[in-house]
Amino acid sequence: MTAPKAPQPKAPMARLDRLLANLGYGSRREVSALVARGQVVLDGAVVKDAGARLAITPDLPARMTISRQPLDPPAPLTLLMHKPLGVVCSHREAGRSVYELLPQRWRARMPGLSSIGRLDKETSGLLLVTDDGPFLHRVISPKNHVEKVYLATLDRPLDGSEAEAFAAGTLMLEGEKEPLAPAVLEPIGLKNARLIITEGRYHQVRRMFAAVGNHVVGLHRERIGGLALPGDLEPGAWRILTRDEQAAIFS
Ligand code: URA
Repeated sequence: MTAPKAPQPKAPMARLDRLLANLGYGSRREVSALVARGQVVLDGAVVKDAGARLAITPDLPARMTISRQPLDPPAPLTLLMHKPLGVVCSHREAGRSVYELLPQRWRARMPGLSSIGRLDKETSGLLLVTDDGPFLHRVISPKNHVEKVYLATLDRPLDGSEAEAFAAGTLMLEGEKEPLAPAVLEPIGLKNARLIITEGRYHQVRRMFAAVGNHVVGLHRERIGGLALPGDLEPGAWRILTRDEQAAIFS
């Protein structure tokens, strides 16, 4: 006997013009003009009514084209990126941002995309970018103890005391009132170490090494929870996070 199928969550419905406007294709008036020009095709047929209501299913980009190009993926969308050195994660900070690595239209998406936690301008590695608020909070909430794993290159050789100081759960960062949660340090050379933390305080790794009298000269994030940065993703490259990868973060 086959097991009964789990009920599928009902797909949200939206008006076509609102969907396209929220995906950054233009104002409601502009996307209505796209529809009027016959540029929107669903399941092989030109859509004539900009106010038509659609079920927003994950297969929509495979079924709908806009000006002969597949529809952009609707929300919720999460991306996995290899953040390169020299770009910022903040929308507001000066300088080139990780959002400039994505298609320009995506900057006008509603809900907007933002990084899950931030990496400093001079930190590289695994970065998640999402428009899914509940997922973002699940990853960053200290209650969920999702590990963030960094490779740090140091200015001075490790002196052997760091692992104990980081594991103690008593280390205070300058200017803070709460001690850090215990963290795991694995030395991998005189001036190189892997550091596993479960919080995401401002400049945390650099400040942890500063607190034990060292200085980080290179920093790379290699893992978030059970999700490692794929070896074939070059710096600056990104792709959509799969459901299995999303689940792996919490495994
Ligand atoms: N800790 C830091 O100091 N910098 C980062 O980019 C990430 C963690």
